[in-house]
Amino acid sequence: MIPTTTDPRAAAQALLSGGLVLLPTETVYGLAARADDPRAVARLYAAKGRPAHHPVIVHVADPAGAIDPDAPGSWVASCPGFARALAEEFWPGPLTLVLPRSSRATDDITGGQEAVAIRVPAHPRAREVLLAMDELDPAGAPHAIVAPSANRFGRVSSTTVQHALDELGSALDDGRDVALDGGPCDVGLESTIVDCSADGPRVLRPGGITAADVVRVAGAMTSLSGSSAPRVPGALPSHYAPAARVAIAIDGEAAAAYAEAVTEGGLGDDSIGLLAPANVADIPGVARLAAPDTSEDYARILYSALREADARGIEFVVVVPPPTDADGIAAAIADRLRRASAPRT
Ligand code: TXA
Ligand code: MG
Repeated sequence: MIPTTTDPRAAAQALLSGGLVLLPTETVYGLAARADDPRAVARLYAAKGRPAHHPVIVHVADPAGAIDPDAPGSWVASCPGFARALAEEFWPGPLTLVLPRSSRATDDITGGQEAVAIRVPAHPRAREVLLAMDELDPAGAPHAIVAPSANRFGRVSSTTVQHALDELGSALDDGRDVALDGGPCDVGLESTIVDCSADGPRVLRPGGITAADVVRVAGAMTSLSGSSAPRVPGALPSHYAPAARVAIAIDGEAAAAYAEAVTEGGLGDDSIGLLAPANVADIPGVARLAAPDTSEDYARILYSALREADARGIEFVVVVPPPTDADGIAAAIADRLRRASAPRT
């Protein structure tokens, strides 16, 4: 098993020498590689089992440099004013901007697309790693890493270092790769992705920064036009999925009815789990996976609850989502639950 450290410099050193790092961010754990090291990036794709045409997000430390086409080693070719406004408002933080790429953003990072996804993480450990890379290796442009979520392709993201190790530890190289422990993730869901390569913003993946936040700062959304729409694997119907089957129930009553139907269908007591807000009652004979009080809590524990279902051998999880009108992140939770419950291909 790869070593676990709490020292950002050790992680930076590993990255600089071509290693991969399980890296905490405020959203979810990432599997990081040096963005300008094609061999490390190729190993990262292999470890995740990720198809080569699915692009990865470039992570950098400096918000202003990230969107400045004239900055040395810039990843972007241009940046419209509305994207600049989003960066100024929400970076560092759980926001990813998709912008026209510079020549530095090679096909192995963008999946061959003409746009690159870029984000400035807020997690102190992630920032310390990026800054330590610049300190240890000061020549040239500021360092950047690519960091897809630390899970096998199509599976649930990781929100603790242990979950990241459970997912990917055996696919990594204990001689050169390391895990950086930064505690459990604050947000719990992946960053909001906003495509800024057209005339106006388009939310490609909802997250903690809501569509309403985006409109407030960047103006009205541009509608998606079929063929020019960037590909987002999270947009595949089945994604973020545990091994257990997931069914969505609108409230506690519907959840109880679901559980009963599943029991009658032959699944035993220990095989059914319930994930629902605290105000939804337990169901006799059904394992309560979590009872979050707020939508923020719900987002934070969602992936670990789905993992716990698998760990306990639960085969069927009934989920009551948080009320969508409650607050911002509920829409992102509903999005992930829809994908977790989609028919498997
Ligand atoms: O919160 C996050 O964004 C986490 C943490 C680790 O930073 N990362 C993450 O990466 O969720 P990943 O690879 O699991 O999801 C990135 C998403 C994918 O759906 C990918 O298609 C999309 O970003 N993406 C990346 N580059 C893109 C591009 N050039 N155009 C459109 N979508 C892009
Ligand atoms: Mg992912």
